[in-house]
Amino acid sequence: MTKINNLVEDAYRRVEQEQQKVASDMYRLQFHLMPLVGLLNDPNGFIQIDEVYHVFYQWNPFETAHGAKFWGHFTSTDLVNWTTEPIALAPDQWYDKNGCYSGSAIEHDGKMYLFYTGNVKEDNGERSTYQCMAVSEDGISFEKKGPVIHLPKGYTAHFRDPKVWKSGNEWLMVLGAQNLKHEGEAVLYRSDNLFEWEFLGPAAGSQMNELEEFGYMWECPDLFQLDGHDVLIVSPQGLEPEGDHFHNLYQSGYFIGKLDPQTKRLQHGTFTELDRGFDFYAPQTTLDSEGRRLLIAWMGITDEMEKYQPTIEHNWIHALTIPRELKIVNNKIYQKPATELKALRKNEVRYKAVCLEAGIVKNFSDIQGDSLEMQLDFNDSIAGIFEMEIRDNIKISYHSTEQLFTLERKNFKDGKKEFRRCALEKLHKLHIFLDTSSIEIFLNDGEEVCTARFFAKENDKCITFYSDQIETFDLSKWELK
Ligand code: FRU
Repeated sequence: MTKINNLVEDAYRRVEQEQQKVASDMYRLQFHLMPLVGLLNDPNGFIQIDEVYHVFYQWNPFETAHGAKFWGHFTSTDLVNWTTEPIALAPDQWYDKNGCYSGSAIEHDGKMYLFYTGNVKEDNGERSTYQCMAVSEDGISFEKKGPVIHLPKGYTAHFRDPKVWKSGNEWLMVLGAQNLKHEGEAVLYRSDNLFEWEFLGPAAGSQMNELEEFGYMWECPDLFQLDGHDVLIVSPQGLEPEGDHFHNLYQSGYFIGKLDPQTKRLQHGTFTELDRGFDFYAPQTTLDSEGRRLLIAWMGITDEMEKYQPTIEHNWIHALTIPRELKIVNNKIYQKPATELKALRKNEVRYKAVCLEAGIVKNFSDIQGDSLEMQLDFNDSIAGIFEMEIRDNIKISYHSTEQLFTLERKNFKDGKKEFRRCALEKLHKLHIFLDTSSIEIFLNDGEEVCTARFFAKENDKCITFYSDQIETFDLSKWELK
C-alpha cells in the first residue's frame, strides 16, 4: 500500500526532476495547455465556478505513454492565463487503481463534485469499471466518495466517461458504453441527490436512429442544449473511412436532435465530425456565466503514430486545443476561438487588399513566425487554387472547382506527407492559430476546423502564399505571447 499512498509525491518529484528537460524543448507550446511532464490526454471537468474556469485533464506523469491516469488541474479567470493547481485525483484506491479516467464536474450547494471512471485491471487481466464521485469545498482539494454506479447488465466493462448536468429538478448523466453485441452507445442515468443513480438505458447508439454499425465503443459523450437543439457530442471508435471522412483512427463529432423528455431517447440526424484535421479527440463542453457553450479538446489522439512525436525525447507529449465557442448555424455546429484569446495579440500587422499575382509564390518579411494568429479575408471567395505553406511542414490549399480544402503535413515517423481533405463549397475566410508545434485553422468563421500538431525545423519560420490566378484579400497577423 505504501507505493499507492506515495503516488502524488512521486508525481511531484517527477515534475521537479524533469522540468528543465521539458522546458528546454523547442516544441513546447506558447498558449496551449500542456502536461508539466509525461502524457496528457482528454480534458475533464471543464467548468466555470465563481468566475473561475477549471480544466482538469487525463495525466500520466510517469511516462509519455498511456497508463494509470491522474487528474491534473488548471484554473483561469480569463481562459488565457492559467494556473497549475495541485493534483486533483490520483489512482490510489482499489476502485481506481489503474486510472482515474475521464469525467466531468458540476457545482451544487457551494461544492464542486467530480464524476469520473475508476478503471481497474483485475489480476486475471479483466477490466472493471466504477463511476466514482469526489467532492471539494474549495475547488482545489478533493475527497473521494467512491463508486456511485456499478456496471449494469447488458454492457461490457467499456463503460466510462460520465458527463453530469442538471435538467430541471433532476441530475442527468451520460456515459460512453459498449453493449454486449459490441456496439457503441451513449447511456443515461438520472438522480435526485447525486449519490443514487437510476439507469435509463441508451439515449443513442450504434444501432439506433437508423445508424448501422456505427462503432464498437462510444467514448466521452456530452449532451447539452445549444441554440434550441439537443446536441450529443461523442467520440466513436471503430468507424471505417468513408470518402474524405473518418481518416483518423478514432473520430469526434456530434448528432443534433431532440431528447424526448419522457423516454430519454435522442431523435437525431447524421453524425458530423467536429474537426477535419489530424489531432482532435475527446472534446468536452461547459456553459459559462455569459451563457456561452465553450469546448476544449485533446489536441491529439491515441494511435500508432503517437510514439514518434519528438517531444517524447523531452519527456512530455500532447496538449489541449484552444477553447472554442459553439453555435449552431443551419443545423451545423460552428466553432470560433474564445474572444478572450485576443488578449494574447502583440505587434499587429495589417495589409489591406493584398494582391497575389497568378502563379507567383509570395511571402512577407513581417508575416512569419512560430506563434501567431493570422486572418485572411478574401474579397470574394477563392476562385481557382490557393495555397499556403507554413514552416516547410504544413501546407493548406483550397481548390474552388473541386470545392475541396486540404491540410497536409509531414508525418511524425518519417516525414512523409499525409493529408486530410474536407469538402467546402466556398472559402472566404481563414483564421489561423499557429503555435510552436500546432495549428488550428478556422474556415469561414468556424464552419469547419482543422487541427494538427506538427514538428518543423526550429529556424524555419517562413510562410508563403500562392494562387494560380489573381487573388485579393485582407491580411492581419498578430504575434501571440
Ligand atoms: C479517451 C479515453 C477515455 C478514457 C480516457 C483514459 O481518450 O480513452 O474513454 O476515460 O481516455 O485516459
